[in-house]
Amino acid sequence: MEYNIALIRGDGIGPEIVGEAVRVLEKTGEVFSHRFHFTDLLMGGCAIDRIGTPLPDETVEICLKSDAVLLGAVGGPKWDSLPGHLRPEKGLLGIRAALGLYANLRPARLYPALKDACPLKDGVCASGIDLVVVRELTGGIYFGVRGRRQGKNGQEAFDTECYSEKEIARIGKIAFDLARSRRAKVTSIDKANVLESSRLWREVMHGIAGQNAGIDYTDMLVDNAAMQLVRDPSQFDVIVTSNLFGDILSDEASMVTGSIGMLPSASLGEGRPGLYEPIHGSAPDIAGRGMANPVATILSAAMLLRSSLGLEKEARAVEAAVEETLAAGLRTADLAGPGCAPVSTGEMGVEIARRIR
Ligand code: IPM
Ligand code: MG
Repeated sequence: MEYNIALIRGDGIGPEIVGEAVRVLEKTGEVFSHRFHFTDLLMGGCAIDRIGTPLPDETVEICLKSDAVLLGAVGGPKWDSLPGHLRPEKGLLGIRAALGLYANLRPARLYPALKDACPLKDGVCASGIDLVVVRELTGGIYFGVRGRRQGKNGQEAFDTECYSEKEIARIGKIAFDLARSRRAKVTSIDKANVLESSRLWREVMHGIAGQNAGIDYTDMLVDNAAMQLVRDPSQFDVIVTSNLFGDILSDEASMVTGSIGMLPSASLGEGRPGLYEPIHGSAPDIAGRGMANPVATILSAAMLLRSSLGLEKEARAVEAAVEETLAAGLRTADLAGPGCAPVSTGEMGVEIARRIR
């Protein structure tokens, strides 16, 4: 089969990690007789430099025509002083909105080979970590009304969190459906003791829970959830939460599994191409030095094969190759403990690609 994949390499370490994911996809294509056609598109800081806007129209048009989009990371200090609407991050939020990608799935699991990289005590992670954060991605405070105004005490700035029943119900459905194919447990995370938007969130989730008798459902306040994630992460199966809480908790979940360099994500909408990206950022401090961990992007490519192209066998082959490579002791700098010589971004990519069969 032939597939069209849009590539947004982006800024910082983006081009290096996407390069390794492409290497792995090419190898997968060879082994399983598929052809992947890649189209490079600009977004983020590199698009600002070349075209003057973080999200060129052409990028959205070509993404919409592709079977899936693979993204590295955007942003960096070079563009930090630009006004909000011209920042690289605006490109990322813009493409999520333009493709209608309201559901962001961020699986976090502790690989047996990486037990030592888990910062929690042995006892705490003994029963394993295998959870998915289902983050709402096109609503909430990221997309609410914001601005500046003159107040009594000088300038004021504000951002608003707003969720509709429809937005909550559709992300809730994704979480419950996902839980049914896993350990049948949903934890909905909110701040319903303070926020009205969370109170509506909770009401809608309770409604969905009522229609899903086989699923074990719990609500949890976000401050407690942040604590429970380090106290006993094994209690979580599917976490469903808002855009902002999901952003924060998925970084925490990633560190618990060893490194933020390990977590992939899939952003999905209805009938549109999915977008796949590591949950980490562009890490400008290590860009261009061959130090970045490409695993999160390679695992994102595996999610792309599975969810957008329906290639389950191929996705599993990539995931198995990652697992074998880690089991063989290969570690990029973020994972290498004392006495372990790290491999480069490129070496990690080559080692994973050659284990695909
Ligand atoms: C993420 C990132 C983005 C977000 C930033 C870069 C805008 O942190 O994908 O988690 O907050 O969504
Ligand atoms: Mg984030």
